[in-house]
Amino acid sequence: MGQRQSPLEKLAMSLNMRGQVHPQFWSGKKVFLTGHTGFKGGWLTVWLSSMGAKVTGFSLAPNTTPNLFEAAGVAALCKQSHIGDIRNLDDLRNAMQLASPDIVIHMAAQPLVRYSYANPVETYATNVMGTVHVLEAIRSCSCVKAAVMVTTDKCYENKEWVWGYRESEPMGGYDPYSNSKGCAELVTASYRQSFFSEKEYAKHGVAIASARAGNVIGGGDWSADRLIPDAIAAFESGLPLMIRNPLATRPWQHVLEPLSGYLVLAQALYEQGIAFNGAWNFGPNDADARSVQEVIELLINQWGSAASWQQDGQPAPHEAHFLKLDCSKARQELAWNARWSLEKAIEAIVQWQGVFQSSGDVSSVMREQIQAYEHSHKSD
Ligand SMILES: NC(=O)c1ccc[n+]([C@@H]2O[C@H](COP(=O)([O-])OP(=O)(O)OC[C@H]3O[C@@H](n4cnc5c(N)ncnc54)[C@H](O)[C@@H]3O)[C@@H](O)[C@H]2O)c1
Repeated sequence: MGQRQSPLEKLAMSLNMRGQVHPQFWSGKKVFLTGHTGFKGGWLTVWLSSMGAKVTGFSLAPNTTPNLFEAAGVAALCKQSHIGDIRNLDDLRNAMQLASPDIVIHMAAQPLVRYSYANPVETYATNVMGTVHVLEAIRSCSCVKAAVMVTTDKCYENKEWVWGYRESEPMGGYDPYSNSKGCAELVTASYRQSFFSEKEYAKHGVAIASARAGNVIGGGDWSADRLIPDAIAAFESGLPLMIRNPLATRPWQHVLEPLSGYLVLAQALYEQGIAFNGAWNFGPNDADARSVQEVIELLINQWGSAASWQQDGQPAPHEAHFLKLDCSKARQELAWNARWSLEKAIEAIVQWQGVFQSSGDVSSVMREQIQAYEHSHKSD
């Protein structure tokens, strides 16, 4: 188990530091993280390890070159880094039992909409059965006290309306990716009721929540079909960026925003248990639900050399046009707030990219950005 806290420390935490990530909480905690070879997982491993957490990662090998896992030396920051497949229950269960974690954060997924149209079976197998397997593995580990299951804002039935979605709204998802994440939410809710019920909490001792965030941006993302990686690749090769839906509006946020939400939520689940069970939205402030065109124009302004975009007239599969989250619950009950504006997020990406291009130490710049994020206030 992690370092014990005195009752006084616990009180200080609950009174003074709501809504903040507490390094003293994470120091010595054993965290089982799926998806550590990916974009969000790489950032989270850097953050957790900088606070002294003992991270066991479990994921497939990175599937792009370059990738954040290698660029930031993520394996070396883990206590154990397993290259494994969450579709294989036995391997996953063995790795989790070996790690005997206090906290599980499940982020591994097939996360791309376009890829899900081409590979629906793989997408459902990873995102739905993978989630079942993570929950099964938790059932076999008596040490786990808290689990955060990461899904997406796309899990909601999208009504293309102007209001933000609340956690209580129906699950849906048009394309296989979005729908598989809606299914993963239902799986988590079913396991919580069936095997980790609130009535039986004294017996099983596990609190479980799911976390839904929007489009995430930050340094170190090389995924296919994502706006910022596509833009940087185009700008670096001197070509205009081709944009499919310039008017599509998304809740853009720097990767540190949802990660801080997951950490604050995990702290609350661990410290206060089932009171924090359920679903949580972690989106940006309303002002940062902006069109693709606006985001790209901000990036072009900060890029510094010739960069441009053009509309791509090619037919594209259906994607949601308007989507935003209502984050009142996280603000009210977890005191979590988005801190960085879109402008600040883009500035951080350009800084990260500059360090990467000059073969600098990207894990250091990540730690600096994490510190700057922690010291910033609401929407700097
Ligand atoms: N990036 C975003 O904009 C965004 C937005 C909302 C939600 N999310 C969610 O956040 C999570 C992380 O996304 P990301 O952007 O870091 O994606 P990513 O593609 O960079 O990383 C995905 C991770 O999952 C792992 N993975 C995939 N299939 C696996 C399998 N079968 N077994 C084991 N590991 C497997 C990969 O190896 C990788 O570590 C995902 O659950 C995604 O759906 C991402």
